[in-house]
Amino acid sequence: MGSGCVITRRLSPDELEVAIELLGDGALVAVPTETVYGLAARADRPDALAAIFTAKGRPAGHPLILHLASADDLGRWAVADERATALAEAFWPGPFTMVLPRTDLVDDTVTGGRDTVGIRVPDHDLTRRLIERGGTALAAPSANRFGAVSPTEADHVLTDLDGRIAAVLDGGASRVGVESTILELLPGRPPTLLRPGGISVVEIEGVLGATVVDGRTGESRAAGMLASHYAPTATVELVESGTSPPARDGDAWIVPSGTPRPDGVRAAQLPADGAGYAAGLYRALRDLDRLGPDRILVVAPTEGDLLDAVADRLAKAAAPR
Ligand code: TXA
Ligand code: MG
Repeated sequence: MGSGCVITRRLSPDELEVAIELLGDGALVAVPTETVYGLAARADRPDALAAIFTAKGRPAGHPLILHLASADDLGRWAVADERATALAEAFWPGPFTMVLPRTDLVDDTVTGGRDTVGIRVPDHDLTRRLIERGGTALAAPSANRFGAVSPTEADHVLTDLDGRIAAVLDGGASRVGVESTILELLPGRPPTLLRPGGISVVEIEGVLGATVVDGRTGESRAAGMLASHYAPTATVELVESGTSPPARDGDAWIVPSGTPRPDGVRAAQLPADGAGYAAGLYRALRDLDRLGPDRILVVAPTEGDLLDAVADRLAKAAAPR
């Protein structure tokens, strides 16, 4: 694995058994989730966990999220207080990751040596069955090359990782389209948002009856917080809704439907509501990037859900590299 000489298989949903076998052999399999595709290895295979970093070109020490089949398994991997139990009950399966104190069962490769672990239960039947049948958690970062846009389709995974992983299990396009919300919950500390995603701060505060602190300012703890991330090859520039920079050859645009744009430019039109826009954003970035534009100009959505998550990912895609 990661040697660059394997043939990557595309598995259909009825080839779930093959995916289970490959993982059992210590191979890497990309798996669908409702957020983005993950690059999975069994949590009890340190060799496979290490191979994730080689395949992605990801620096060692970046922690991985553990994916469970059910919230019932949480206590095996993490120390869950009342807050964590309530949030798991409310949002799992779903696009919500908690960073909690770890148990001894968690391999150091997963945590990058930290005493905490990130955990979620994905809302994708195929992948939950895969985890359940394997009998252990699957560690999985997003299944893209390090620094690239996360994959929301099996094709995106193959673009980035063909020949570097054993297989991709094709479960269709990811429904949410951006990575999970990450909330840090440590003893004696307020709940802290590390990454906005499919579950909003308002929803979390509703369950906890407590204020969520924004942990994105100050020292960066999650790799998703690094300035340049989720970036295509073209320069990405944000355009304020309602303004209209002069058209240039070599530009491509991403706009919510109904937004005016210069005539004749290459453009991807996404749904105007935040959730619909999020679901199509990474595909649009990848598709337009393949056309080789100098710049991708992006107008963000202004209505609906997931506006924080979309704004966060766009800011990172547009950050200086
Ligand atoms: O939606 C998602 O979360 C997707 C799907 C595949 O589940 N996964 C994902 O993984 O986005 P990744 O590795 O690309 O991003 C996970 C983020 C990283 O920024 C990592 O630093 C952070 O989670 N993270 C994981 N464990 C952590 C920990 N113990 N403490 C702080 N941050 C952690
Ligand atoms: Mg990632």
